[in-house]
Amino acid sequence: MIAIRQLAFTYPDGTRALDGITIDVRTGGSTGIVGANGAGKSTLVNHLNGWFVPQEGSVTVDGIDSGRKQIEEVRKRVGLVFQNADDQLFMSSVLEDVLFGPANLGMGRREAEASAELLLRDFGLWELRDKPPAHLSQGQKRFAALAAVLAMNPSILVMDEPTSDLDPRNRRKLIRLVNRLGVTKVTVSHDLDFIWDTCDEVCVMNQGKIVAAGPARALLSDQGLLERNGLELPLRLQGE
Ligand SMILES: Nc1ncnc2c1ncn2[C@@H]1O[C@H](COP(=O)(O)OP(=O)(O)O)[C@@H](O)[C@H]1O
Ligand SMILES: [Mg+2]
Repeated sequence: MIAIRQLAFTYPDGTRALDGITIDVRTGGSTGIVGANGAGKSTLVNHLNGWFVPQEGSVTVDGIDSGRKQIEEVRKRVGLVFQNADDQLFMSSVLEDVLFGPANLGMGRREAEASAELLLRDFGLWELRDKPPAHLSQGQKRFAALAAVLAMNPSILVMDEPTSDLDPRNRRKLIRLVNRLGVTKVTVSHDLDFIWDTCDEVCVMNQGKIVAAGPARALLSDQGLLERNGLELPLRLQGE
């Protein structure tokens, strides 16, 4: 379980991006984090794998505090797919990027290569494995970033705006893929239809606070709640 308690975060320019966040993320569940641009979603999820260290409050993952001392333990458990795939891919080829994380965690090269091949084949990227990530399309980069994270075998997968660069077919492919992954998932998205299809719980954020949390489809059908927080009903519920 991820337990977030009274988490607050202020950027150096004085922007208070998180203002007392308290939530629990259930093991085995799939939690969506929704909110308008600037609500604090990315700032929040960047705390889940120790990328950001809490300034106030705490984040614990399976009882391990994400403070500096145990950051490596937390990073082993939580895989974070960044909002911008370019922040994730920095090696000279797609394959090297997928091998980097496992090597860093001390996994054997053989084992890492076998799992990289499976993932890249599964994601339709095997033929592109020797390409520099910069030469991939945005959608291909998105799947490559996901492969690089899954290669580390995380028990918790965190994705920040995973559908932003995907065409409809790849978006559906991602929905299928995410739904068949048996790990705990946390997904940030303003694509509320994607959240509808992949999440069982939802937290609504506004101005650095959680304003509602509960069963995904109940919250995502609550037009008043969504509109008060700068969101719109999922497309599938519009015009009904
Ligand atoms: N590096 C930064 N420096 C200063 N302010 C930032 C920085 N990154 C984000 N912010 C601000 O923090 C708030 C939350 O941003 P963010 O977490 O990116 O929101 P979201 O992901 O929900 O769109 C916004 O007001 C944004 O302008
Ligand atoms: Mg964001």
